[in-house]
Amino acid sequence: MRIGVYPGTFDPITRGHTDIVARSLRLFDRLIVAVAPNPRKEPLLSIADRVELAKIATKEFANVEVESFNGLLVEYVRERGAHAIIRGLRALSDFEHEFQMALLNRKIDEQLETVFFMPSEEYSYLTSSIVKELAMFGGPLEDFVHPEVADKLRQCYRQETS
Ligand code: PNS
Repeated sequence: MRIGVYPGTFDPITRGHTDIVARSLRLFDRLIVAVAPNPRKEPLLSIADRVELAKIATKEFANVEVESFNGLLVEYVRERGAHAIIRGLRALSDFEHEFQMALLNRKIDEQLETVFFMPSEEYSYLTSSIVKELAMFGGPLEDFVHPEVADKLRQCYRQETS
């Protein structure tokens, strides 16, 4: 049984992320979507909301679990008995940071590989930040996120402006 951990901030989970989930399930038997608090990025959504929305957006897939984690990713992956870290790679601009993280994680644990999946072209430009910006200005969201994610974002920005 091959288990993959797909870590991220998921603020919020997008259709680009779920595309990566679907692709990884072709190679892995089980997938753990691991939501990091990531205070460095000052997320819009609480960790509980990000986990909840990731559960909703991935409920169509069997063998996917969503949970949050604290601390070092490498330790979490080891604790969960997983075999690889999964990351999506969109454009060249992602590469440098991803390369750094993958090599750093492998330096900490020689046994641990990071596996990259390319999303479908239609999501190759999609980021959580772009989706939040669209939501902030009342743009259309349903092509990019699950409807319940779209509702939550609209609700957040409505509260901010009222
Ligand atoms: O979606 P993101 O923001 O690109 O995800 C980044 C994430 C959460 C995968 C990364 O920040 C992370 O692994 N955080 C946990 C702390 C850690 O292990 N850091 C060292 C690896 S660079």
